[in-house]
Amino acid sequence: ILLVVAILLLSFLPRTAAGSSLPTLVPRSTVQLGRARFSARPMLELATRCDQACVRREAVLLPQDFQEYLFYETLYANGTRTLTTVELSPSEGSTERRWPRRRTRRKRQIYGTDGRFSISGNHFLMDYPFSTTVKISTGCTGVLVSEQHVLTAAHCVHDGRDYVKGAKKIKVGFLTPANGTGRPVMRWARVRRTQVPKGWIQSLNSLSMDYDYALLELRKPHRRLHMELTVAPAAEEMAGKRIHFSGFDSDRPGELVYRFCGVEDETAHLIYQHCDARPGASGSGVYGKVWDPVQHKWERKVIGIFSGHQWLEVGGEQHDYNVAVRLTAPKFAQICYWIRGDYKSCQNE
Ligand SMILES: *[C@@H]1O[C@H](CO)[C@@H](O)[C@H](O)[C@H]1NC(C)=O
Ligand SMILES: *[C@@H]1O[C@H](CO)[C@@H](O)[C@H](O)[C@H]1NC(C)=O
Repeated sequence: ILLVVAILLLSFLPRTAAGSSLPTLVPRSTVQLGRARFSARPMLELATRCDQACVRREAVLLPQDFQEYLFYETLYANGTRTLTTVELSPSEGSTERRWPRRRTRRKRQIYGTDGRFSISGNHFLMDYPFSTTVKISTGCTGVLVSEQHVLTAAHCVHDGRDYVKGAKKIKVGFLTPANGTGRPVMRWARVRRTQVPKGWIQSLNSLSMDYDYALLELRKPHRRLHMELTVAPAAEEMAGKRIHFSGFDSDRPGELVYRFCGVEDETAHLIYQHCDARPGASGSGVYGKVWDPVQHKWERKVIGIFSGHQWLEVGGEQHDYNVAVRLTAPKFAQICYWIRGDYKSCQNE
């Protein structure tokens, strides 16, 4: 069945080619907060609703508006937490611009057959890019983005109000081939600290997916390849206009599940698509093949995080989508700073 979807979305898509300069996220002050509480129930699936007003609200955000959303909490394994304020200075020589109103008219195939592939065989599990997928002990998925860091969805550790029960002793699982012919085993690694943007924590009333990401720092470096992050380009700039992700969907326990699909629409913050996914895949690293002008080839890079499901109301009609959070330039600057601890080295991709 084909359905014609007409959606009015505003976008300002940062067209940041590799090597161009990015906004700088400068940390200002860090204050101690009271000890974290861990009372929230883990949400394996995030479902949100976005009406016309919500679409419009998202569209008028300017970089200055979300400086405060880029403040962040750091939670340590001993239960203490801090709040860090930051200042976002726009990249030099390039003023961030609002993109004009865009009307996109797309046809789409309604969810049909299950388009997911279980990755099996020791060989494939340990092969890049599948080997960059890790399990989060609260029930989600994450992606290795440095020798010691894992990117996942914020809702896997915090419900917008409070940390989830399992967040204090959160662990990261590496699916590892077993000896001989046995099933693969999950090996768990401990986490030293967890960082969550304020843009997620303060969205108490209407849970917005825009800031649904969190970074975990492992106690010790892992020994696998990781996938690099990049500022999400417009869908047209990715090979086949496609996104891909692997995760631990809860309907296939113990299996790593891979899928890919086309991008159907996008806003400044979100990527709308119909990749098949079940609870448990939340937090998966969404990647595309992005042209690397230096190495002169297509490279897989993490451009977003799989968040969940959204009912989008446009012109009185409801459309349902699976949604990924885009790594915008400010979010990229923030996560890069979390990883490297040096904002100056994050001015270029
Ligand atoms: C908790 O851990 C953090 C980071 O390692 C440290 O700075 C802080 O002093 C610790 N707090 C307590 C009460 O142990
Ligand atoms: C696999 O085999 C090695 C040596 O043959 C052994 O040391 C190790 O404990 C085994 N691991 C598992 C998970 O059985």
